[in-house]
Amino acid sequence: MPNPPAQTPDDVAPAVSELDTIVSLAKRRGFVYPSSEIYGGINAVWDYGPLGVELKNNVKRAWWRAMVQERDDIVGLDAGILMAPQVWVTSGHVGSFSDPLVECQTDHRRFRLDELPGAENLSATDLRDPGIVERLGLKCPVDGGPLSAPRRFNLMFKTFMGPVEDDAAVVYLRPETAQGSYVNFKNVQQSSRKKLPFGIAQVGKSFRNEISPGNFVFRMREFEQMEMQYFVKPDDAAAAFEEWLPRRWSWYTRFGVTESRLRFREHAADELAHYAKKAVDVEYRFPFGWKELEGIHNRGDFDLSRHQAESGQNLEYFDPATEQHFIPFIVETAGGPDRAAFTFLIDAYREEEVRGEIRVVLGLHPDLAPYKVAVLPLLKKRPEIVEICHRLRDDLARDVMAVYDDTAAIGKLYRRQDEIGTPWCVTVDVESLEDGAATIRDRDSMTQERVPIDNVKRMILERMTAARG
Ligand code: GAP
Repeated sequence: MPNPPAQTPDDVAPAVSELDTIVSLAKRRGFVYPSSEIYGGINAVWDYGPLGVELKNNVKRAWWRAMVQERDDIVGLDAGILMAPQVWVTSGHVGSFSDPLVECQTDHRRFRLDELPGAENLSATDLRDPGIVERLGLKCPVDGGPLSAPRRFNLMFKTFMGPVEDDAAVVYLRPETAQGSYVNFKNVQQSSRKKLPFGIAQVGKSFRNEISPGNFVFRMREFEQMEMQYFVKPDDAAAAFEEWLPRRWSWYTRFGVTESRLRFREHAADELAHYAKKAVDVEYRFPFGWKELEGIHNRGDFDLSRHQAESGQNLEYFDPATEQHFIPFIVETAGGPDRAAFTFLIDAYREEEVRGEIRVVLGLHPDLAPYKVAVLPLLKKRPEIVEICHRLRDDLARDVMAVYDDTAAIGKLYRRQDEIGTPWCVTVDVESLEDGAATIRDRDSMTQERVPIDNVKRMILERMTAARG
């Protein structure tokens, strides 16, 4: 594993020291808003604004490109959010998908035990100890009141299917996309004629009734996942697991995440999720500490064996080479576009002094930037200039996200585009009317290049291809 030496939060500085810097930029510039804000909001749900939806779509596209388009051994799937409730009994989620919850006896606030001050570093065994609150003398962090013994709180959201709201009609909002890939294993394998090893990739919404959501979009109750299930022969699972670690690491660095702010962390045996034989997280140094960005799991034959046993359907794979029937093992890469977009946003943020003023720049990779190019008139009072700008933007917009802006002086327009990560600005000026040329300004170097207007689009597309490497 390309892991730097063991790090504590203090060894590596976050890209941004205060989370508020990102939260306020996100709100001000239209990346992320609190959900239902005019009604006071709803906890742990966030809405993506005009720039946020572009960023998140670009993250999902970049993941799909790397995981499906560029590989011939992985195919896509889009399974339903609602599934037969038995799926979640078989998968172990009804019985085991829970966090330890404690309740203050005086103000009845509820907390996740492992996030209480003094309990952050407890082992999974300690977290299951019913006497842990007493043993450590833990108190309510708000009013200092006594806390209950921990109990397990199931994170799945329930709803009812059909017109009758009784126990028989309960269905769950999926807490992971993975199960949709497992129950479709045979469908996908047979219809796409894939041989082992092969993978199924999914991007989509998942829901968890988190006890203590927070840190902006880091932990939400409604979020998206980007998960890939790689089916392998049992003997190949350990090697496949090791191969996926550097691949997933380099996907983040390829799109700009600073290597020293990433690390791998292997789960201790008593911390493993109920389905995992082995798990390693890719962690990022967020402003609030090292936290999981993505998990890579060796799930063994846990899921397919259980679905086979409970559904009564044969989920074995027939290997024509050895003429053997067996249940494949699964290596899973489990990330999410919300957490990934958040990470790209934080890591891209920088403030630098230019001619005595602070310039805020989002150094986003061009593939991720919401707008690839902004077309700006130097003089908005000259209709000929404005017309050229609109024509150019319309032409660019056939291939990339391009925006026109004339609502301020040119210096301010550049700063606005820097702050939202637009890699290139194209300025049309009075001279353009004479020489048919425009200026392309680069976000990072701030260098300007004069080029024929007819070449602008080709040059932007070439730069995009070059950035992709
Ligand atoms: N199928 C395995 C699984 O779901 P996980 O580590 O619980 O594994 C995978 O979740 C990824 O989903 C996380 O690494 C994170 O990127 C994203 N994720 C999980 N819970 C989330 C939440 N409450 N808010 C935002 N993203 C979340």
